Amino acid sequence: MSTTLTLLFIGDIVGTPGMDAVAMFLPSIIKDHGVDCVIANGENAMDGKSISEAQLVRLRELGVQAITSGNHIWEKWHIHKLMGAEAMLLRPVNYPRENPGRGYITIDLGAKGKIGVLNVQGRTFMSPLDCPFKTADWAIQRMAEETRVILVDIHAEATAEKIAMGWHLDGRVSAVVGTHTHIQTADARILPGGTAYITDVGMTGPYDSVVGMRKDVALRRFIRQTPHKFEMASDDVHFSAVLIVVDALTGKAESITPLTYPEFSRNAGDNH
Ligand SMILES: [Fe+2]
Repeated sequence: MSTTLTLLFIGDIVGTPGMDAVAMFLPSIIKDHGVDCVIANGENAMDGKSISEAQLVRLRELGVQAITSGNHIWEKWHIHKLMGAEAMLLRPVNYPRENPGRGYITIDLGAKGKIGVLNVQGRTFMSPLDCPFKTADWAIQRMAEETRVILVDIHAEATAEKIAMGWHLDGRVSAVVGTHTHIQTADARILPGGTAYITDVGMTGPYDSVVGMRKDVALRRFIRQTPHKFEMASDDVHFSAVLIVVDALTGKAESITPLTYPEFSRNAGDNH
């Protein structure tokens, strides 16, 4: 039995372009890197807000074993039913308990062992949910009874809050990965206690946009300071993820590698 587990976490999948990018890149990544478990943030899959049942099924067929989410998951009414019915679809654990769904799951990988996945949301510049730090402590204590391999998706607006969560959980979980801000950060590293960390995994979706939104609409919002209907962008689609190798026995991370497909061009001549 191999003593390492290779996990792939896909950053916020935005709309049909993001779904298509997953279908295009995921099968070869799983094969090439020997990925044991795929987790994806799907809060923006349905035209930028929430996820449909058909999209959940499609992601499952592509090999995704758990879908994390965040504040935007609630913006379609059907989600209350779907969240209650699908164990692989997580919502941040620190939402009030009256909401449907659950914030963590343990995935059984057979001979490879088990992996716990926790979804938690920040409070800075966001809704005043229960304390993400204390709630994460509570959930991790429960998951640790089953496995030492635990990945945490901290869905938050503030960089500082995500970094604080990384330090708070260092040595107690295998990975803390940030989502929500949609731009991959350059700080992927292993913290001293053995926790893989990145402030934001980045968006899997259209980058000819403002974090997935059509740029002309986003600009109207910023310049006029009034609401304008959200419209999805469609061009310059990239797949963003992190590959994390974990010691299956200790739960300590051995490496974290950010992935972006296709890579962004840094030459003016190649720009769109
Ligand atoms: Fe998002």
